[in-house]
Formats: sequence, C-alpha cells, structure tokens
Amino acid sequence: MELMLDTANLEEIKKGLEIYPINGVTSNPSIIKAEGKIDFFNHMHQIRSLIGEERSLHVQVVAHDAEHIIAEAERILKILGSNTFIKIPVTEEGLKAIKILASRQVNITATAIYTTMQGILAMLAGARYLAVYYNRMLNIDIDAAKVIRELSSLLWANSTNCQILAASFKNLSEITTSYANGASCCTVPYALLQTGLHMPSITKAVHDFSENWEKIYGNRTLLD
Ligand code: E4P
Repeated sequence: MELMLDTANLEEIKKGLEIYPINGVTSNPSIIKAEGKIDFFNHMHQIRSLIGEERSLHVQVVAHDAEHIIAEAERILKILGSNTFIKIPVTEEGLKAIKILASRQVNITATAIYTTMQGILAMLAGARYLAVYYNRMLNIDIDAAKVIRELSSLLWANSTNCQILAASFKNLSEITTSYANGASCCTVPYALLQTGLHMPSITKAVHDFSENWEKIYGNRTLLD
C-alpha cells in the first residue's frame, strides 16, 4: 500500500514528509494554480529535492495532442530525472501518447479516469498507475468504489505491474473506501490528511491519559 501527497505546496510537503508515511507527490494544473505563477520546473525541482529520488513525483502534461504530450513528457523527464511519472489524461490522444511512451519504458500515471473502460485501456497501453477520480465520480453518480473493485480484480487477474492510484478526495471515508476496495495507493491533499488525526475524540483521549497520569505521579512524563 502507498500514500501520496496531492499538493505542490512546499511547506505542506516538508511538514507532510516529517509526519506521514509518504511515498510520492502528485499534482495537476489546478493544484499548480493554487501556488500562483511559479517558475514551474524550478518549483518541481524543489519538490524533487524535498522528496528525494526514493519517492515518486507525478507531473501532469498540459498538451492535448499526442505529439505535444510526448514532447512535454520528454522535457519533464530531462529536467526531473528518474522516479518521475508522467501524468497523462486518458483521452484518445492521451492513450496514443501513453502507448508510445510506455513502449519507451517511460513511467506513466494515467489520469482523469472516471470509468472502468478508461482504466482497462490505460492498463493495456502500459500505464503504471491509474488515477481514479473518486469524488468527481460521485458528483456525477458514478459508483467509484465499484470501478476501483473492477479495476483491482482485473489488475490482479492479469498480474500486471499497474496499480490503482485513487485521487480526488473530499473526505476521509472516500480514502478508506478506496483502499478497502482495492486501490493500492491514494493521493490525498495535506489538509484532508490532517483531519484524520485532528479529531476531538483523539485529542480528548490523549488529554485524559495525561491528566490521569498526573493524578497518580504529579507530573506528565516518564523521564527523570
Ligand atoms: C491527482 O492526481 C488528481 O489530479 C487530483 O486528485 C484531482 O483532484 P480534484 O478532483 O480535487 O481536482
């Protein structure tokens, strides 16, 4: 199982790496927009420096036609090096580019996946991750958990080296449901990850333990 951070914010990535078991970082043009008009490749370089070569960096192309998607992918790889995954939306042109790039051993994260069919096509074309857009699917009445289950069983049955990277989350339940239905990886915005540990009930339990210890020993430590 893997967990990724769905952000391009350097502070969030720094803090996230200190606390959470993070395997990689994903972004898309909308996530980049939240950072303002940054020097894109310089910024991605800074993310790479923070996460090291051992974690994956998933960078999305902007072009819509296969020729330019491939050219952008080559530029991304030249600048950002190994363990970089090229995020390509599963459109007709995107699929064409995925096939060509995968045949050149480029690591692809197929993205903007709403349907099992898109996932199957991306898997057959050679993608390594399938970015399934959980919350966006629910918004248009697509059963996201079912799509993840179907893709998961197909990936297992065909023993591919492709895995599901569930994405587009708005609450914790969507994340846990994705994992439980067969997504081996989820990419999560930092603020949403925090809500998992910022619950009043957790805070209260920890506070009560300290208070009770203090009632017995008059302090809140095991140290001298
Ligand atoms: C990540 O790879 C996806 O692009 C992202 O999770 C989409 O999130 P959104 O639906 O909140 O834009």
